Amino acid sequence: MSRILSGIQSSGQLHLGNYCGAIRQFLDLQAQGHEMFVFVATYHALTAMRDPLALRASCRQMVVDYLAFGLDPAQTSIYVQHDVPEVTELAWLLACVCPTSLMDKAVSYKDKVGKGFSANVGLYTYPILQAADILAPAADVVPVGKDQVQHIEITRDLAGRFNSEFNADVFKLPTHRLAPDAELLPGVDGEKMSKSYGNTIDPFMDEKPLRKRIMGIKTDSKQVNDVKDPQTCTIFRLFRAIAGVNDPRTRDLADKYLDPSKQGPDGFGYGHAKQALFDLVLTHFAEPRARRAGLMADQGYIDEVLKQGAAKARGAARITVDRARHAVGL
Ligand code: ADP
Ligand code: TRP
Repeated sequence: MSRILSGIQSSGQLHLGNYCGAIRQFLDLQAQGHEMFVFVATYHALTAMRDPLALRASCRQMVVDYLAFGLDPAQTSIYVQHDVPEVTELAWLLACVCPTSLMDKAVSYKDKVGKGFSANVGLYTYPILQAADILAPAADVVPVGKDQVQHIEITRDLAGRFNSEFNADVFKLPTHRLAPDAELLPGVDGEKMSKSYGNTIDPFMDEKPLRKRIMGIKTDSKQVNDVKDPQTCTIFRLFRAIAGVNDPRTRDLADKYLDPSKQGPDGFGYGHAKQALFDLVLTHFAEPRARRAGLMADQGYIDEVLKQGAAKARGAARITVDRARHAVGL
């Protein structure tokens, strides 16, 4: 059994990309019986957020949604990053072995600054804090989406540098894990779906706005009887990611793209595909959607989950941080 750790920034509502890239892996690994740490990355969100109420609300909602999706606190320690101060303590020790050239190479920083985010030092050193998240509780495996692979490589690099510069065996080198058939999901505008880009689909939305959101997905202008390319279509890619590449419903949808008469004499248009995606989201997420309201009404339970999760994470992190301090001479 391995120790698994991952986190998601509380910069907005969880979306289908987070689910397919990350959360579904958490659920699979939990079902396999691994020891799990899953947290809300509030300090990472702070590199871009300036609205305290929105940050607080998003953090709380993410914890509720982790539970609604099916994370089980009996097996998975669920916590918020700012409840584990050992992580920020470790981030400093790691920063002292991190060459600036390593941060200069991080693509997520360049992407975000390119998209107009403020180039603050927190955003620049973001991967160091992420390395501390992972190394503090000594995780073996980090399930993430494709865009995070470089951050896990940076984590390994920093862990190895620290061990060799202080000639001590303090950190284990973790590995990343991608979902089978992992791809970065597109948002309603066809760009990478991201909380920061306002193009997400939230599986917990009420039916009416959810349908409207899905009906608003950008497509080309092909008509009902035209042959369409499923591989480049946002609707199809979302459908395939949720249902699975080998699911008969996915193959059936691909067939209709390639031969619209399979739907019937009136052909098969993007409106039909959007309706199929809407129906899929409602069935696939029926249980989490039903569980969520009850969880939201029980804030005392959420507090208790977070308290226990933080205690477990702090216990594990303290051991590593004390060893790291000792190794550097403190
Ligand atoms: P966001 O970009 O929405 O802020 P995060 O950066 O917090 O999302 O990502 C949380 C997790 O979800 C990470 O493991 C990330 O790789 C995964 N993820 C985010 N967006 C996508 C996407 N569009 N497709 C697949 N996985 C994604
Ligand atoms: N950077 C990650 C993201 O944007 C969130 C994150 C922070 C994370 N710390 C982590 C993911 C540690 C995995 C492990 O998705």
